[in-house]
Order: sequence, then C-alpha cells, then structure tokens
Amino acid sequence: MSGLSGDKILVTGALGQIGTELVEALRKQHGVSSVIASDLRSVDQVGESEGPYLKLDVLNTDSIIEVCKNEGVGTVYHLAALLSATGEKNPALCRKVNVGGTISVFEAARQCSMRVFTPSSIAVFGPDAPKHAPQITDLNPTTVYGETKVEGEQLAKEYEETYGIDIRGIRYPGLISYKAPAGGGTTDYAVEIFEAALNNGYYDCFVRPDTRLPMLYMDDAIRATLMLMDEPSENLGASKAGYNIDCFSFTAEELANAIAKEVDGFKCDFSPDVRQNYADSWPDSIDGSVAKEEWNWSPEFDLDAMVKAMLDGLSNKQ
Ligand code: NAD
Ligand code: SER
Repeated sequence: MSGLSGDKILVTGALGQIGTELVEALRKQHGVSSVIASDLRSVDQVGESEGPYLKLDVLNTDSIIEVCKNEGVGTVYHLAALLSATGEKNPALCRKVNVGGTISVFEAARQCSMRVFTPSSIAVFGPDAPKHAPQITDLNPTTVYGETKVEGEQLAKEYEETYGIDIRGIRYPGLISYKAPAGGGTTDYAVEIFEAALNNGYYDCFVRPDTRLPMLYMDDAIRATLMLMDEPSENLGASKAGYNIDCFSFTAEELANAIAKEVDGFKCDFSPDVRQNYADSWPDSIDGSVAKEEWNWSPEFDLDAMVKAMLDGLSNKQ
C-alpha cells in the first residue's frame, strides 16, 4: 500500500449493537478525539455525544473519502449493514447497503491508504456446510444476508490482492449484549429474552427450543476485534477476511433454562416464525482453530458466565 495514512479511526454504523461498544473500547485504547463515530442519524438526533460523531451514509463514497482525507483517518471499522431478519424482508436494500456500502469503504481505503475491519458472519454458511463448520468449506448460504457476507469476504480478498489494502474480518457468531438493542438479526432472541425475563418473567421465543447456534458475549467480540486488528500482518493467512472464532453454542431451551435458574418463575414459550428458516440454515457450532493458531483467540465467557453478566448488566441499567 503506498502513501501516508492518518492516525484517526472512523467507525461506520457506530450507533448499532456492536458500534456502541466498539467505539467505547477504541476510545479507551486510542483516546476519545481519535475515534470518529458515524451513522445515518444526524448530530441533532443523536444528541450529546462522548466524542466526535458525524452523519455518514456508507453508500456515499465521496463523503467517506472527504471525511477520511480531512480528518486524517488511517483505519475504518465498517459496521454499517442490514442484519438477516431485516435484510430478508428487503433483499434489494440488503444487497445495496451490505455490498454497496462495503465497496464504498474499500474504494475509500484504496484512495486514502487505510486499513479496514469489516465483519463477516456465521451466515456465510448454508445448510450444506458441516454442522460444526470448519474455516474452509463450500459457502452456499440460502439467505440474501449470507450472500452479501460471502461477497464481502471475496471483495476483501480482491482489494487486498489487487491494491494491497489490509482488510480483516471475523465471522461473528450471534452476539449477546445489553448496552444497545440488537439490530434486526435472527439471533436477537438470545438478547430479547433477558429483558423480557427481568421485566415480565415471560418470553415468547421465535425459534424452536432445539435451535442450536454459535453465540458470543459482546465483551469477547470486542476483545477479538481489537486483538485481530493489533496482530502483525505477517501472522495472518488466507482466512484474514473472515475468521471463524471459537465461541459457545446452546439451544434456545438451554438458554431459557439457564435464565430460569437465575430469575425466579421465568417461563418461556416457543412460537417459531420465518426466522427459524434462517437459523436452520446456519451451523450449530464453528471451528475456530485457524484464528487460535494465527492470533491466539479464545473466548472467556461460557453460557453461565454470559447469563450472569447479562442479568447483572441489565439490572444495573434499569
Ligand atoms: P446493527 O443493526 O445493530 O447496527 C448497524 C448500524 O448500521 C445501524 O446503526 C444503522 O443505522 C447503520 N446503517 C445502516 N445502513 C447504513 C448506511 N447506509 N450508512 C451508514 N450507516 C448505516 O448491527 P450490528 O449488530 O452492530 O452489526 C454490525 C456488523 O456486524 C454488521 O456487518 C453485521 O452483519 C455484523 N454481524 C453482527 C452480528 C450480531 O449478532 N450483531 C453477527 C454477525 C455479524
Ligand atoms: N447475528 C446475525 C443475525 O442474526 C448473524 O450475522 O443476523
């Protein structure tokens, strides 16, 4: 990669589930003024912000380039996207934002000599992949959202090979957190259930009790993201655009039972809807051995630790 890039960091889609916590973590690491948060909402709509914030549509390549040149941005964490449940309701918009937005960011990275982190997802796998999904297998997703994530990984490889841009990504599992609402994904039941348990003692879950998916607590997801971006480039191999990472897996019923152990009288019913189809097309668990070997990733939270952290976090927030 030629040319000089700046020291600042730009986060797109920063007001979402991951962005809310990633911006906080990056500001702790690099200083508040070095991390520019951006999303679709105007400054007025966002209100008081802890650090720099601007309205930025990732479909507007020129605006991204202008911001990056003016502000001296050297790294972009590109989180703006539509998740699976929202995306399958509007496939054209999902393709436009997820693929179009990623191309905009990669083009900006090419012109401004920037590094990029852009998340992939366990949704890259389709029903033909092994249920314990390896790093390398055929990627034939049956959701449009999954297709956009496969395309994102391919584009990252092309931009790296053609222009030498350093682009890294993780195939995040379903992410569980309490600081910001989950943003329209299939795995959102594993987030919603906690607030419902504390507020109503009851949750009607939109997947079957035996639905097993790979999941990760947000603290681990943020730690993995920072670790990957801090890793020297020479340690990373051909999977750098979309690493499987070790996480944990549980069924919806196991999650409900783990919450019931902590919340007296909690009851969960199960009324599967269309999101069941997306969940059924994804793996039960994933093999993160390449990430472990190349950048030494292993998670800290298991199911019980995550349940306790979620209930404590939500109780302190209320
Ligand atoms: P989210 O829906 O909570 O946040 C996405 C943000 O992107 C929103 O704030 C939204 O306003 C913004 N956005 C949408 N269109 C935009 C546009 N055109 N320009 C600028 N901003 C736009 O999503 P998240 O959970 O924070 O996910 C972030 C990334 O991580 C996505 O790429 C997602 O596919 C990936 N991911 C998330 C999970 C998960 O469980 N949360 C799992 C796997 C992968
Ligand atoms: N958690 C995400 C979703 O359910 C997977 O990428 O959409």
